[in-house]
Amino acid sequence: MSGQRPRAVSKAVAVGKHVTGPAGGLTILERLDLEIQAGEAVAILGASGSGKSTLLGLLAGLDSATSGEVWLCGQRVDDLDEDGRAALRSGRVGFVFQNFQLLPTLTARENVLLPLELTGTRDAARRADDALDRVGLTPRARHYPRQLSGGEQQRVAIARAYAPRPEVLFADEPTGNLDQVTGEHIIDLLLNLRSDAGAALVLVTHDPRLAERCDRRLHMSSGHLEQGS
Ligand SMILES: Nc1ncnc2c1ncn2[C@@H]1O[C@H](COP(=O)(O)OP(=O)(O)OP(=O)(O)O)[C@@H](O)[C@H]1O
Ligand SMILES: [Mg+2]
Repeated sequence: MSGQRPRAVSKAVAVGKHVTGPAGGLTILERLDLEIQAGEAVAILGASGSGKSTLLGLLAGLDSATSGEVWLCGQRVDDLDEDGRAALRSGRVGFVFQNFQLLPTLTARENVLLPLELTGTRDAARRADDALDRVGLTPRARHYPRQLSGGEQQRVAIARAYAPRPEVLFADEPTGNLDQVTGEHIIDLLLNLRSDAGAALVLVTHDPRLAERCDRRLHMSSGHLEQGS
């Protein structure tokens, strides 16, 4: 048989996340299974505290599971150390954090440029400028994160994740700080990354406009995932 089967870019098999702290143990995720195919757009919905950000961090190899297997771009990430995971993500995986995590000592443009330069991308400067333009921030390119509004910081974080044209982009509430018009523009941008470059999108969102434009909606509830409509 030739390779016509869909290719999973992200996969979780019986993944659990358990933490222990001063207040005792807490199971955040329990035996969770999930498979996301190349080019697929999936929305993850659910109440605050249900485990959405934890799941996204595990899938992207930013955090490690306490049980189960996590696969990213066809490779197991839970076997790899921190450096191995970073190398696997490099240029292939984009991540937009719920709290943006921009580097405070770099300008907006430098924040977008840095990952491109680290991966030796050709035309890094042009790509960074293009990404900033697409999120409407060319006039703010030389501003530092502290000089930007929450929505502007969010758009820099999106430009940083978008610019390398990753195979899979994970975004945690990417329209959470944006007004309706800007939010719709960003939704179009993310979906264009899928249609133009075949990227898979895994989007945690409370935004019904974004969720309804995805191929699938999954609902998190107390660390479990249910298929949505
Ligand atoms: N490192 C940690 N140690 C202890 N508890 C944690 C840790 N990380 C997350 N939690 C807890 O796990 C639960 C899930 O957190 P998570 O951030 O994944 O929720 P979420 O669904 O993204 O919520 P929100 O919609 O508010 O962003 C929360 O109750 C949180 O307090
Ligand atoms: Mg969250």
